[in-house]
Amino acid sequence: MNEHKKIHLKDYRPFEFIVDHVDLVFDIRDDHTRVTSKLKMKKDPARANETTPLVLNKGTFDIISVVAGDMVLLPGEYKSDDEIFSLVATPDIFELEITNILKPDENTALEGLYRSGSILCTQCEAQGFRNITPYPDRPDVMAPFSCTIVADKTRYPVLLSNGNLVKSGDLDNNRHFAVWEDPFKKPCYLFALVAGDLDVLEDRFTTASGRDVALKIYSEKENIDRCSHAMTSLKQAMAWDEKRFGREYDLDLYQIVAINDFNAGAMENKGLNIFNAKYVLADPQTATDDDFMGIQGVIAHEYFHNWTGNRITLKNWFQLSLKEGLTVFRDQEFSSDMNSRPVQRISDVKKLMAAQFPEDSGPMVHPVRPDAYIKMDNFYTMTVYEKGAEVIRMIYQLLGQALFRTGMDLYFEKFDGMAVTLEDFVGVMAKVSGRNLDQFFRWYTQSGTPAVSMTRQYDENTKSMSLTFTQATSPDRNQSEKKPFHIPVRIALINRAGETVKQDALYELTQETDTFKFENVPADIYPSVFREFTAPVRLTTDFSDQDLAFLMARDTDPFNQWHAAQTLFVNEIKNLVTAIQAGNPMAVSAGLVNAFSLALEENQKDRAFLSRALALPQETEIKDHFEIIDVEAIHQARTFLKQTLAQKLTSEFKTVYELCRSANSDDISGGAMADRSLKNLCLSYLGSLANNDVQDIVQKQFEHAGNMTDEFAAFKILSHMNADVRDKACPAFYDKWQARTLVIDKWFSVQAQSSLEDTLDQVKKLTTHKDFTMANPNKVRALIFAFAMNNPMHFHRVDGQGYEFTAERILMLDKINPQTAARLCSCFNLWKRYDENRQAMMKKQLETMAEQKELSRNLYEIVSRALE
Ligand code: ARG
Ligand code: ZN
Repeated sequence: MNEHKKIHLKDYRPFEFIVDHVDLVFDIRDDHTRVTSKLKMKKDPARANETTPLVLNKGTFDIISVVAGDMVLLPGEYKSDDEIFSLVATPDIFELEITNILKPDENTALEGLYRSGSILCTQCEAQGFRNITPYPDRPDVMAPFSCTIVADKTRYPVLLSNGNLVKSGDLDNNRHFAVWEDPFKKPCYLFALVAGDLDVLEDRFTTASGRDVALKIYSEKENIDRCSHAMTSLKQAMAWDEKRFGREYDLDLYQIVAINDFNAGAMENKGLNIFNAKYVLADPQTATDDDFMGIQGVIAHEYFHNWTGNRITLKNWFQLSLKEGLTVFRDQEFSSDMNSRPVQRISDVKKLMAAQFPEDSGPMVHPVRPDAYIKMDNFYTMTVYEKGAEVIRMIYQLLGQALFRTGMDLYFEKFDGMAVTLEDFVGVMAKVSGRNLDQFFRWYTQSGTPAVSMTRQYDENTKSMSLTFTQATSPDRNQSEKKPFHIPVRIALINRAGETVKQDALYELTQETDTFKFENVPADIYPSVFREFTAPVRLTTDFSDQDLAFLMARDTDPFNQWHAAQTLFVNEIKNLVTAIQAGNPMAVSAGLVNAFSLALEENQKDRAFLSRALALPQETEIKDHFEIIDVEAIHQARTFLKQTLAQKLTSEFKTVYELCRSANSDDISGGAMADRSLKNLCLSYLGSLANNDVQDIVQKQFEHAGNMTDEFAAFKILSHMNADVRDKACPAFYDKWQARTLVIDKWFSVQAQSSLEDTLDQVKKLTTHKDFTMANPNKVRALIFAFAMNNPMHFHRVDGQGYEFTAERILMLDKINPQTAARLCSCFNLWKRYDENRQAMMKKQLETMAEQKELSRNLYEIVSRALE
């Protein structure tokens, strides 16, 4: 394994030059693209008359000419290799023209300029622009860009880049051109180009100040009638950002392009977002309700980046959370305002707990602002995004809505057009509130999830209740000792009747132990703490299961009701796991069945909420509550709990299932979605019984569903029932949907996640299916990621074959797409948390990977951290 260099925050130095203008020409030919870049540059005035070498980042392409001023440079007069282009010295002001040849058809890494089907497109964040042309590929170098695209008119009728179209026309030989100019200075990671035979959906938006903006969503012709939900979402996002943050759009044109081959979810390139088709295309027949919500959220996220990311960008990549944490916070708030706030909060926190908490307990643990990286793409993490959003949310809590808005206004005013840091952001928040946020800033620099415990003490004499909070964060590779965090806690007091005795207020933990005393309260009172999940901590309390059942039913904060229910489930599963490990018989406590049944009776109230509150945590979430993860026992315990509930409450589940069936099949209103989610939750419980009676119900829904939500829910249940049932359902689903690649992704992922005995064999067989390819990230995620990340029973097979299969695929993928290979490899990250046999087998796979001579930098970083 080759060693690769780490980049450290402490080594940051500003660039020695200023780029005044970038002029790009892309001459697209059948087997190559010729790129000419004209840079107008000058030395940083502070360095005038000094001899300063010019060092540009560069990918692995061939340079065919270099012109400096009006001098043609010979290869000996500049230096160029696979990483760098450099000149020993330059005048103070100069122009540099470099021409090079790209082979987008051979670019399977999907960074820089690449082909997706018949479309040519780009992905430059984080450091993909260097694969297009030599350039100072860093976010603090901002410049105005113009871009000329020349291509065949038949193959590429649509030619797009950032900003405004200023000129276009025909050329000889059936070729044509377009010239785009982006008036806003931007870092090169926001550059984009698209060329292809695309259809467009057009709309308009008038901004608050009366400016008319043309909105265009592009897709392959056969999908253009699936773009209207994305368009609606875009207009909602534009209106919301004006209302909530006073931010208007700044160009006359906003474009979105849907692409089938894409490493991430989407990309906020200035005026030309490029999206994974999964986050654009939807209709009720082919997309689930979750897909609809996902599209609304991601469309908004990329739109919000126009201010938080593009107008104000990053000084260096270590500050990534400055744009991502803040923009996730903004998209979460948007989705809360558009839909149900409590349900949104529950799903955001669930995601954090399921994926970010484990990240904190493994080899990828890093502060929200990392100190070092080998490959930046590995740090587009749950910590930077989701925990980063929680940190912003804590500032929002500490300041309150009004002051937070004042702070945001000042942030936009002060830093517009600049590349800044997290200190700059927190600085304006401190300034407008007059608060000292120095201790708070540890959330950015200190890694790990704080464990907070709460205990109650009641004093009969003074009739006072004290709540004592202690916090502790485990040492890790980033800090051997952790200092206390500044943690906001929202607390209310509730009595036995479920009435609020003391309104909710914000308290702040700043020490290892903090105590708050509430005077003059009765003894039988319940504190409701961390309401709405005021901080990203692991909370333990002295609540008994009876207390939790009460809070599940009566807490006045729906988030806390959900949290109480989840804690009850986890406690029950822990007891079952203990019983299994001791060889004792399993039994579910009557109290839990009772609490569950009472909750199910409330089904007329908020069905979306109820469907979340009554859903058992996934095996992948449950494992986080164990030091040593017993894969089989967790699976057995959860299955037993689910089946016991289904058995004891069969008729209740059936009743609610029927009650929720009225929703119109193509209605995507909140109410209809809520009905479907509760209905399908009931079906999933019933389905766990796998008897003929329920099989019939599931089968009926599968065959007659009027939308993908219902069809997919039934399909998933059938995929676990038994091999015969699955073997009928799979071809039926495939035959119906084979023309829809996004639906076929669902088909792959359901099979990869099946609990049936022969799942690994099925997955192996599916890798040779004609619709499967390692070159398409969505397909790899649907089959290989789904197996390795979401099917613990089979990935962790005791014979090690799940590991072996996955490791082989990772190495295969590393040759094609290193970014995605590195992501996939994180399925081995928690290897130290399993039994000795599994530890040894997982370690062996990591070592085998480490022994490869030509590991990508991406995969090298993940593997070497895991083995460190
Ligand atoms: N900035 C994009 C977003 O809005 C994601 C870019 C992902 N890039 C990467 N190298 N993983 O979230
Ligand atoms: Zn983002």
